Amino acid sequence: MKHFSRITKRTSVAEKQNVVLMGRKTWESIPIKFRPLPGRLNMVLTTKAKSTPSLFTNSICCSNFDEALSKAKDRSKQIETVWAIGGSSIYEMALESKHLHRIYLTRILKDFTCDTVLPYFDISTFTRVQDPDVPSEVQQEGDIKYKYEIYEKIRAVSSVLKI
Ligand SMILES: NC(=O)c1ccc[n+]([C@@H]2O[C@H](COP(=O)([O-])OP(=O)(O)OC[C@H]3O[C@@H](n4cnc5c(N)ncnc54)[C@H](OP(=O)(O)O)[C@@H]3O)[C@@H](O)[C@H]2O)c1
Repeated sequence: MKHFSRITKRTSVAEKQNVVLMGRKTWESIPIKFRPLPGRLNMVLTTKAKSTPSLFTNSICCSNFDEALSKAKDRSKQIETVWAIGGSSIYEMALESKHLHRIYLTRILKDFTCDTVLPYFDISTFTRVQDPDVPSEVQQEGDIKYKYEIYEKIRAVSSVLKI
């Protein structure tokens, strides 16, 4: 969480912020006291914005993925990067987007049974890159080992979107 928070807050221009774009279920999975995620503009994809507006206090609701990118672009003087932070369908749309720049992936070196997954992506269309702010050596928390991997889309059209 510390890594997630640091990387998604980081901007090259101090006056700018990043967007964290998520599905409604991911938004609801964040405890009320921790949302919106601080220091970032929270955008939520949902079809329920009108029927349950109070659920989305202090976030910007969007009814589809393109609308979210368009709203971020409208604020390009204040917004640097859009981070697509899940769940599965948001990852899927981000992976298919021509605006996708990078995937910041945390690989947990242990098997778990999961109910939400990162969709398949063709790794041959990406190149592995380093980020000076992201350690490349294996990390450990308790008995769980994990590592950070960063993939950059080959021939990305623009660099606005990261997941
Ligand atoms: N890295 C991680 O570990 C990680 C990251 C993210 C999430 N999660 C977990 O994953 C779970 C949620 O993921 P999920 O895949 O089940 O759900 P999700 O993607 O977070 O949310 C799905 C919802 O997003 C809205 N949505 C999706 N596509 C849309 C579109 N094109 N237009 C409008 N609305 C759209 C719909 O909301 P409406 O039904 O309101 O219309 C849909 O029901 C949570 O348990 C969360 O904690 C884990």
